[in-house]
Amino acid sequence: SEPLGVALVGCGTVGTGVAKLLLEKGDRLAQRAGRSLVLRKVVVRDPAKVRGADVPRELVTTDLAAVHDPAVHVVAELIGGTTTARKVVLDALAAGKHVVTANKALLAEHGPELFEAARKVERTICFEAAVAGGVPIIRALAESLAANQVTALQGILNGTSNFILTSMAEQGTSYAAALAEAQRLGYAEADPTLDVDGSDAAHKLAVLAQIAFGVTAKPHEIEKIGIDTIDAMDIRFADELGYTIKLLAEAWADNGRVALHVAPVLLRHTDMLAQVRGAFNAVQVVGDVVGETLYQGPGAGMMPTASSVVADLIDLAVGRAQRTFAAAKLWSGQSRGFVIEPS
Ligand code: NDP
Ligand code: HSE
Repeated sequence: SEPLGVALVGCGTVGTGVAKLLLEKGDRLAQRAGRSLVLRKVVVRDPAKVRGADVPRELVTTDLAAVHDPAVHVVAELIGGTTTARKVVLDALAAGKHVVTANKALLAEHGPELFEAARKVERTICFEAAVAGGVPIIRALAESLAANQVTALQGILNGTSNFILTSMAEQGTSYAAALAEAQRLGYAEADPTLDVDGSDAAHKLAVLAQIAFGVTAKPHEIEKIGIDTIDAMDIRFADELGYTIKLLAEAWADNGRVALHVAPVLLRHTDMLAQVRGAFNAVQVVGDVVGETLYQGPGAGMMPTASSVVADLIDLAVGRAQRTFAAAKLWSGQSRGFVIEPS
């Protein structure tokens, strides 16, 4: 059958990983999808910076309109930020393309508008990579736990913060040096303030709350404190008392109300979440049918994130994503009977 044509908008850490997978694992992906996944366009600001994947030069362009090519069926928005990214997604949908995005800030801020636009043109937005990088938490919540009402979820959702806390606790690295290393490894946001002030974890919590409870949380409705309030002394004293400091994002549901917050907390060394190290993420989800479940793995970085983006591309190629999307009615204002508890 006809190949699925893919345009990447953005080819930095995540885009490079996706390009590598499409170019180097084409046979495997075609087998899984039942059709080829073909890289058609790579849109960036500076073509000279496209390195790390052997992207054919003729595919690279600075022209955002290149994604309108009829051979492009899916646009992967991998630039980050909320201004150009919003335009890219709306433009792609208007041109009849499906969208894959790793951009949780965009979903948290413009979810209702983007999903309404997608529904109008019967196109799909997939976003497995937007929360917890390579950990398939979106599918777990939206599909595998579909028989449950989630009653609580708790997670380490920011790889950069967890990497910094782990480096400070285990190697005595300074906060500044650990943050610089997280940036070098491609874990941090372009503006790392979003990582360390709790905003990125709050964006991801908003996305999870949309799926689990049907609530649309605005940024100010999520109480947040980041790890920029923690110093080396806090980590040392906590350790001496048998605790590890972790940045947790939490959602608790009770009597039709959901409380959402992000903050550094003290966990006993023996707690499962206390043992999540480096840029790993973990999410504990409690469902009324299944009980307590735990999902963990690499929460940031090139190939783990590409793994999730390409899973979305495969789901679009086989038509699975379109069915799940239509059923889920995300950001449609249809709460599952919950409202957000004011903070
Ligand atoms: P990078 O900063 O590494 O890459 C961004 C890319 O987008 C670059 O190729 C850049 O081009 C391009 N770009 C930026 N603005 C424009 C524009 N206006 N027009 C065209 N191209 C543009 O970001 P990441 O790959 O780290 O992140 C991308 C997205 O994925 C973000 O939403 C991020 O939150 C999300 N994400 C990141 C993860 C990670 O581990 N890094 C994990 C999960 C999600 P140029 O270099 O030429 O400026
Ligand atoms: N900056 C993010 C993090 C990338 O560190 O978790 C993954 O979303």
